[in-house]
Amino acid sequence: MVVVFLLLLLMPSSRSATSISVVDRNVVVGEMGEMLQLRKRRRRRRGHVSLLTCVVGFLFLCQVSRLAAAAVLHRHQRISGSAGDVLEDNPVGRLKVFVYELPSKYNKDWLEKDPRCLTHMFAAEEFVHDFLLTSPVRTHNPKEADWFYTPVYTTCDLMPNGLPLPFKSPRIMRSAISYISTHWPYWNRTEGADHFFVVPHDFGACFHYQEEKAIERGVLPLLKHATLVQTFGQNHHVCLKEGSIVVPPYAPPEKMQSRFIPLSTPRSIFVYFRGLFYDVGNDPEGGYYARGARAAVWENFKDNPLFDISTQHPSTYYEDMQRAIFCLCPLGWAPWSPRLVEGVIFGCIPVIIADDIVLPFADAIPWEKIGVFVAEKDVPNLDKILSSISPEQVLEKQRLLANPAMKQAMLFSQPALPGDAFHQILNGLARKLPHDPHIYLEPGQMVLNWTEGPVGDLKPW
Ligand SMILES: *[C@@H]1O[C@H](CO)[C@@H](O)[C@H](O)[C@H]1NC(C)=O
Ligand SMILES: *[C@@H]1O[C@H](CO)[C@@H](O)[C@H](O)[C@H]1NC(C)=O
Repeated sequence: MVVVFLLLLLMPSSRSATSISVVDRNVVVGEMGEMLQLRKRRRRRRGHVSLLTCVVGFLFLCQVSRLAAAAVLHRHQRISGSAGDVLEDNPVGRLKVFVYELPSKYNKDWLEKDPRCLTHMFAAEEFVHDFLLTSPVRTHNPKEADWFYTPVYTTCDLMPNGLPLPFKSPRIMRSAISYISTHWPYWNRTEGADHFFVVPHDFGACFHYQEEKAIERGVLPLLKHATLVQTFGQNHHVCLKEGSIVVPPYAPPEKMQSRFIPLSTPRSIFVYFRGLFYDVGNDPEGGYYARGARAAVWENFKDNPLFDISTQHPSTYYEDMQRAIFCLCPLGWAPWSPRLVEGVIFGCIPVIIADDIVLPFADAIPWEKIGVFVAEKDVPNLDKILSSISPEQVLEKQRLLANPAMKQAMLFSQPALPGDAFHQILNGLARKLPHDPHIYLEPGQMVLNWTEGPVGDLKPW
């Protein structure tokens, strides 16, 4: 093996331009040292690994790093075609939003009780509210509004462990809708068709974290006409109704940005993942959690030196992602997770393992080009799939990921910035205008069944 490394080290790179060769060489050297150490550590731990995998992997890795080093010195790439236009759209002036004023028991009281909902992955709920209050798209005149927004924080009722209790959410939501429909005339005019709601829970407005239960419940019947802004996205799934806007989960922008390491840092980790492989507490028999995909990652690759995977969340998690080429984004209980956002922010190519997933702002972000999609059933071949991606393709993806517009779109920035996730939501709403005239009902006409759904949900809140 050492001979191979030395050869590689001495070999002039045929692809890299002369202007980058010095940096390039240093990167490769630095990386080799790291990789050798890593390998030694692993070998001590485990004894042996497939020699072929090593050789192929290292050759590939060296090539990628050589090219990746070149990439950072070049400019990032703009998204071509309509996706780029959508990404850079400015929604201001294209829609007006009326923000209902609700009693604080629907929003601020929760926050006061447990401010952790400002930092968890469902926090888009609170930040969208704050953003709209001062946004130039806000109108105080409901008569000229294109969209109505109801600020209700259904994921801010937290258990002691910080996870949201979704059980009361349907009642809270029903109560809020009841409130707006009796205090203003606008809900009844369309029964919600020009209203949007932010529902960032695991399965959106199905309000349950277990998929079976979520499917059984379906989208809260009162929200059937409304537009849902949600993190959950999966095709052919009852919890994603047509016309919903799929958004990224909340990941703390400042915290992530404060952890950037120099762009010239070599990406010496081939595949990186930190998280659960099994959820024994909630899925004792296995196979239900992540539909078995995470278990398959662990069982197939725990001993593979190209895979830096573990359940241990290190304090260098964000830095490690910046040292990795591929970051696994497998489904968990739901198909989405903040890893997707972290991958984009840290330039680590997201490897999306979640069949039928619908990704955030898919009309603006060219996920097919920046990510790698692996079918859940193909997890056992993950090593072969990833090593067969050419260095040129890797570079292309890294260049696109380096586009600041892409990163901006993934973040709920504080304060808001042009093109950020707030603006992409507004873009999504603007593109749904003008409303179809058929949404306006005759006075007294009703389309929703107000008593539909589980009896428990009808209890007043
Ligand atoms: C809207 O409709 C509901 C149900 O029919 C009714 O109770 C409510 O008073 C109506 N709201 C307004 C403002 O007329
Ligand atoms: C409304 O839903 C309830 C509960 O599912 C059902 O019993 C009732 O018949 C429905 N009403 C109409 C008018 O469809």
